Amino acid sequence: MITIRHLRKEFPGVTPLKDVNAHIEKGEVISIIGPSGTGKSTLLRCLNRLETPTSGEILVDGENIMQPGIDLSRVRRKMGMVFQSFNLFSHKMVIENVMMAPMDLLGLPARQAYDEGMRLLELVGLAEKALRYPDELSGGQKQRVAIARTLAMKPEIVLFDEPTSALDPTMVGEVLAVIRNLAREGLTMMIVTHEMQFARDVSTRVFYMDGGEIYEDGPPEQIFDAPGRERTRVFVKRLKVFEREITSRQFDFIEINNAIEEFGRRQMLAPRDVQSIQMVFEELCVQTLLKVMGEPVALTFSAAASALDGRCEIIVTYGGASFDPFETNAQDLPVKLLSRRVLAHSHCYAESQNRLVLQLS
Ligand SMILES: Nc1ncnc2c1ncn2[C@@H]1O[C@H](COP(=O)(O)OP(=O)(O)O)[C@@H](O)[C@H]1O
Ligand SMILES: [Mg+2]
Repeated sequence: MITIRHLRKEFPGVTPLKDVNAHIEKGEVISIIGPSGTGKSTLLRCLNRLETPTSGEILVDGENIMQPGIDLSRVRRKMGMVFQSFNLFSHKMVIENVMMAPMDLLGLPARQAYDEGMRLLELVGLAEKALRYPDELSGGQKQRVAIARTLAMKPEIVLFDEPTSALDPTMVGEVLAVIRNLAREGLTMMIVTHEMQFARDVSTRVFYMDGGEIYEDGPPEQIFDAPGRERTRVFVKRLKVFEREITSRQFDFIEINNAIEEFGRRQMLAPRDVQSIQMVFEELCVQTLLKVMGEPVALTFSAAASALDGRCEIIVTYGGASFDPFETNAQDLPVKLLSRRVLAHSHCYAESQNRLVLQLS
């Protein structure tokens, strides 16, 4: 259905797409993952010609959509796009937002656009909000309306660019559920997402983008469980990392606590995990290590949540003599408090560095 050959996109000073090649069949659901700034959005925008590629070929149903004089509005009708920001018209009712493009661009009579619009609102679970205005809806509901509006144009493929990134964590699930349903119905989709579990469940194939190309392309089991290439492995294993280096006892404690909370919110960690990370930082780093450590103060604290199952691991490294607080200070209150939140710990000492790895319970 879509063939991409040697696609290149240059902006002044940066070339996000160097050489992208792919073939997408009808009915495929492709998740695109990768570090930010690797051209994921640019690729989607080139596909529906919101950006003009520098060189290469994009064939849609055998037709080269980069040839001069191509009817761009027809290309865009084939490729629906759902953005991070919902872009609804706030002065129009929900149903009007959905009816508008089919009436204006496809020439559908109002009655038919209305019936079709109501069917789509039902599909996304929002038929009862048809006569409301966007401002009366939650973020998750607005995004579901935006999906219905895109579907109203009967696209052959829908491109989603981080459809849940602007949402409050409590609303992510409802939007992903709608996309999951569309996948079940066989709609062809490409979805740029940071939701790894979702990408794994819903996709037929995953593109890992890095360095201006599709660095690895494979079924979700390959990409997430047995990545073939090094950068993919690093990305899927250690996606969610919080790291801080402490070089003085006068560091900003409140800022770190807030940063851990923000990290937890972005990574959608359970509140208990966020508390555990803060507690490890307080009891282990502040109350134990920084108290016994001589000069110079040198400690790094990093918390990583597995991209897949969300389990947390904390790694603390610090200088000085070999010191395992779980051995030496086992009877002290901070260490006792910690032990309740820590499932397993290991300590090693090499080249004047202590390294403590904790698995949270
Ligand atoms: N319109 C533009 N003009 C100039 N640079 C751009 C433009 N759009 C994107 N870029 C740059 O291209 C690179 C890739 O951006 P993008 O496709 O948004 O990455 P991603 O979606 O993977 O985070 C970035 O360095 C970005 O700054
Ligand atoms: Mg992007």
